[in-house]
Amino acid sequence: MASQTVPPLLDIRDLHLTMKSFDGEAHVLNGIDLTVNRGEIWGLVGETGCGKSLTGLSISRLVSTPPARYARGEIRFEGEDVLKLSESAMQRLRGRHIGMIFQDPTTNLNPSFRIGEQLVDVALAAGRHSPEILGLEARASSSARRMAARALAETMLDKVGIPNAAQRLDDYPHQFSGGMRQRVLIAMALIGRPALLVADEPTTALDVSVQAQVLRLLTGMVQEYAMGVLLITHNLGVVAETCSHVAVMYAGNIVERGPVASVLAAPAHPYTTALLAAIPTRGVKRGDLKGLAGTVPNLIQPPPGCRFAPRCALAGPDCRADVPPMIELGAGHGAACLRVASQTEAA
Ligand SMILES: Nc1ncnc2c1ncn2[C@@H]1O[C@H](COP(=O)(O)OP(=O)(O)OP(=O)(O)O)[C@@H](O)[C@H]1O
Ligand SMILES: [Mg+2]
Repeated sequence: MASQTVPPLLDIRDLHLTMKSFDGEAHVLNGIDLTVNRGEIWGLVGETGCGKSLTGLSISRLVSTPPARYARGEIRFEGEDVLKLSESAMQRLRGRHIGMIFQDPTTNLNPSFRIGEQLVDVALAAGRHSPEILGLEARASSSARRMAARALAETMLDKVGIPNAAQRLDDYPHQFSGGMRQRVLIAMALIGRPALLVADEPTTALDVSVQAQVLRLLTGMVQEYAMGVLLITHNLGVVAETCSHVAVMYAGNIVERGPVASVLAAPAHPYTTALLAAIPTRGVKRGDLKGLAGTVPNLIQPPPGCRFAPRCALAGPDCRADVPPMIELGAGHGAACLRVASQTEAA
């Protein structure tokens, strides 16, 4: 490989994560491969408990070890394996280069500080690293920087749909509703223009029109600043409208991935097909993954081979022998299913 090749923004390779519990060690991530380039918005979908949040948290190395253990694999951010970085190097990446919006937003705003102060602090920190974020010269005075940071905070708050943004900057978190706090956290994650944003169910708590506004903001920023995004969601409608690519997870494996248009129009893995069939309304709007028959397997003693086999109408003894490899179907679309392999061979 040529040394000048620019590495992908995010390159997760063969990631295995186990989680200790009283009942034993659960194999919760079972060989995740995922590459996100700048300008791409990847949707990460799958039923509850399949490992989406743990995948997202692992990228910023926010999973406690123990009880978790990274048994194998790499998480390369701009070529560097975050699993091997020191904690101080990791802290420099978090927020500034890798932004996070967490699934549980209740813990992430400091109740003692006004919203504006918290946003301004993040903007100032980002401005030290990348002065263009504040629109100022590197030598600008600290008062000019503070004013620019406050103006940026107001703009971002406005962009995530908080009315009277200028006044609301002086309010404390408890003066905001849950949905508004979530929007503040989205503004906070985006204000420093991280190269990679990992957003875990960022719009689930928001009403439909605010959700659309936030997702437009996100897609606009991805285009303008060539960010990459990993968007964890249950909602296939959001994926269809917002994402360029999608990865479908089942019980700790990515079973299918590729460009959204290709995966949603021509799903190749029986699990993806079942997910799409479970959507109650026409097309892929308002998709919800809860309607699928059967349950996700026990991850302490997972079924051998394909973890979906016990729920799959097409499964045979071969599916229970080994974890199926990802079969490439062209243009980045792939599915980890032996039945896909036999279909492509037959074609
Ligand atoms: N801190 C933890 N300790 C023990 N087990 C955990 C912990 N966090 C997650 N798990 C387990 O790991 C598995 C994957 O969890 P994860 O939170 O990543 O799922 P998810 O796909 O994000 O689900 P959801 O859609 O409900 O958010 C689950 O079986 C969960 O119970
Ligand atoms: Mg989750």
